[in-house]
Amino acid sequence: MGQPQQPEGAEADAAAAGTGTVATGAAAAAGATASRPPLRVGMVGYAFMGAAHSQGWRTAGRVFDLPLAPELAAICGRDADAVRAAADRHGWAAAETDWRALITRDDVDLVDICTPGDSHAEIALAALAAGKHVLCEKPLANTVAEAEAMTRAAERALARGQIAMAGFNYRRVPATALARRMVAEGRLGRLRHVRVAYLQDWLVDPEAPLTWRLRREQAGSGALGDLGAHIVDLAQYLTGEHLAGVSALTETFVRERPLTGGAARGLSAVSADGTTGRVTVDDAAVFTGRFPSGALATFEATRYATGRKNALRIELNGERGSLAFDLERLNELSYHDATEPDSHNGFRRILVTEPDHPYLDGWWPPGHGLGYEHTFVHQARDLVHAVAAGRSPEPSFADGLQVQRVLAAVEESAGKNAVYTPITAVPNAA
Ligand SMILES: NC(=O)c1ccc[n+]([C@@H]2O[C@H](COP(=O)([O-])OP(=O)(O)OC[C@H]3O[C@@H](n4cnc5c(N)ncnc54)[C@H](O)[C@@H]3O)[C@@H](O)[C@H]2O)c1
Repeated sequence: MGQPQQPEGAEADAAAAGTGTVATGAAAAAGATASRPPLRVGMVGYAFMGAAHSQGWRTAGRVFDLPLAPELAAICGRDADAVRAAADRHGWAAAETDWRALITRDDVDLVDICTPGDSHAEIALAALAAGKHVLCEKPLANTVAEAEAMTRAAERALARGQIAMAGFNYRRVPATALARRMVAEGRLGRLRHVRVAYLQDWLVDPEAPLTWRLRREQAGSGALGDLGAHIVDLAQYLTGEHLAGVSALTETFVRERPLTGGAARGLSAVSADGTTGRVTVDDAAVFTGRFPSGALATFEATRYATGRKNALRIELNGERGSLAFDLERLNELSYHDATEPDSHNGFRRILVTEPDHPYLDGWWPPGHGLGYEHTFVHQARDLVHAVAAGRSPEPSFADGLQVQRVLAAVEESAGKNAVYTPITAVPNAA
């Protein structure tokens, strides 16, 4: 892997004049970006991520000085009334009920995929073929083969000036981006331990219904692809290395659950009376891994950590120091500088709200913290800069494929009772 890419920033503004073939047309005002050419977004899916991404697209041009002005052109869902209501709520100009119609609209430059994993590959491949830029939520796909096809298509499309980004938004927390910067600066020295866990508890109740997240044919895998994908990406992003291999265990604690009786969205659904169905994904995955530098990694992804709502925890230990982060306190980064004298040393809390911290230049005065939704604003900001500059974004589809290979190796290892399973690195992944 190369050096880390800092959040795409003002240097890309200069490139804004050449916006490529798909991002031209009459500009519409979007706050600070009013006089810039538009980047017209079409989004598929309007529930949890649909709302979060809408927030990102709506806000990015009002906070940051962007080279293109994001416009919320059209949103797509399968239920006409529900998608119209979502369009009105979130500020989209038009609504479609078939994603195939959305991706061929002349007033859409970029397709943002916020659907479950079973449709990512089909929509992304069709959107790239239709000449659109693409943002695709994680995990990139449900299988390595799908992710490989998407990566090949993205690389061909890049030569035509189209950009394809994978949606690993936790890289866009200012504290995780600062952690990456500090690792790259050598403040931790040679890394020895990478310790990451993503802990939630929304499945503890055995009566919680069987939503799409618990069906392999829709979700690809369970806690592994949902939460594990994030922490694998973060571990590789923070270290600047690709995992060389893993040893894994997975478990499905509750194997039958009530079928859903109403609309299912996000993590919740209404349960129907009586009937149950089989859970076909993992409830939890724990695995160890090796980085080529020799650092050892441990990973834990679970929906059964009672009391933990969205605890994504990272600790890095190096020869010269350590860093620790918890998403439930996302404005803070803990840092221990092991080169200072032991007599008055210890972990210090860095409040990551200074203007020279990543992404903070556009926000509030120091101490006025950010939250979960801001990661989607930062994601939109970085993608707009990549589109304007015509350069491959981070994370690219190749980075998404790299994560997919790790997820597949975890499943393979777990199927063989934790046998160490090597992973082939993706050549163009950052
Ligand atoms: N980055 C994050 O923090 C994060 C968090 C949650 C989910 N995700 C990812 O986002 C994706 C969506 O998850 P979600 O929580 O928003 O799910 P959700 O159930 O809340 O929403 C899914 C949406 O997709 C729509 N949809 C499904 N199939 C469709 C189709 N064929 N055509 C049009 N619309 C279709 C549904 O109607 C719904 O609007 C998944 O890949 C998930 O892993 C990412």
